[in-house]
Amino acid sequence: MSQNVLVVGGAGYIGSHTTLALREAGYGTVVYDNFSAGHRDACFGDHLVEGDLADTDLLTRTMRDYDIDSVIHFAALIEAGQSVVTPLPFFHNNLGGTLSLLDAMNVAGVTRLVFSSTAAVYGNCEDVARLSEDLPRAPINPYGHSKAMVEAVLETCVQAHGLEAVALRYFNACGADAQGRSGERHDPETHLIPLVIQAARGQRDQIKIYGTDYDTPDGTCVRDYIHVSDLAAGHVAAVAHLQRKQTAGFEALNLGTGAGQSVRQIIDAVRRVSGHDFKVEEDVRRAGDPAFLVADNGRAQQVLGWQARHSDLDTIIRDAWAYATKNL
Ligand SMILES: NC(=O)c1ccc[n+]([C@@H]2O[C@H](COP(=O)([O-])OP(=O)(O)OC[C@H]3O[C@@H](n4cnc5c(N)ncnc54)[C@H](O)[C@@H]3O)[C@@H](O)[C@H]2O)c1
Repeated sequence: MSQNVLVVGGAGYIGSHTTLALREAGYGTVVYDNFSAGHRDACFGDHLVEGDLADTDLLTRTMRDYDIDSVIHFAALIEAGQSVVTPLPFFHNNLGGTLSLLDAMNVAGVTRLVFSSTAAVYGNCEDVARLSEDLPRAPINPYGHSKAMVEAVLETCVQAHGLEAVALRYFNACGADAQGRSGERHDPETHLIPLVIQAARGQRDQIKIYGTDYDTPDGTCVRDYIHVSDLAAGHVAAVAHLQRKQTAGFEALNLGTGAGQSVRQIIDAVRRVSGHDFKVEEDVRRAGDPAFLVADNGRAQQVLGWQARHSDLDTIIRDAWAYATKNL
């Protein structure tokens, strides 16, 4: 069996860390990216192919030329807020692009796929303490819909096309490679931890807390923050799982820590770890922000033999801070 993995979207945040982890686990790696959001100096594959998801022929040739065994598919437009303003590009890229990738896999005879999904497929689950994969998909924005649609496509196509597919539903990806080789640099940045770090570095005047009257211990929203290196390890485990399994099917697995941190806890942790103080402003709730989004991660642990090992809050902030202060 070839050990070569095609990392589509491998120049991005989670893809670059996963490429590093795949190489360390002994896999051959080919990064495929159109650089719409990725970075050339974050490509750690043995090979790089510059191309778009929509280019089915180039994807097919790449899979054949490099004797690809498995595909990990990170490439997507990721900003949920923007997807409400301009939804169509999200469906073209995230859904249409994935159909093109599936066509290419079909023609090239590649059957194993790990797909980047998201906790956004659950939508608003106010009454649920920990989100389990058995909950229905009920996204509330076009970004979440585009991911849920891909999951539905995979679920309904696997048998007919002999696909072995895993959708990994990430919670809040954060942190950076402990050796400083990669880190988070989205543009625009919308994720909480890098924004708070910007405030601590004086790169923004303040950090805003949207909503302080939620039904949570300190009134601010609670999320499940998972270190990007733990996500990367989850992908390596998912590829190994598919290679062992060798039967067509679809599974969705949550990649989260199972523990929640509030917005105030993140702010306090950045103050503690960085030693810098900064202005915090309280604002009203944003529409569509649930109080509490935390993973039930038992199934991923059981199926993949995976556990989050780097996701205590201080490690996350320390790695993110070190990366930001050196590179951004
Ligand atoms: N960052 C998070 O917290 C988070 C949470 C849940 C799910 N996800 C999912 O994880 C995946 C990766 O997220 P990320 O934070 O690394 O994003 P990112 O923007 O850093 O990486 C995405 C990569 O895909 C590439 N890309 C996008 N469209 C492409 C196309 N049409 N053809 C070729 N390449 C294309 C971009 O250039 C970029 O390198 C996404 O699918 C995202 O929806 C991310």
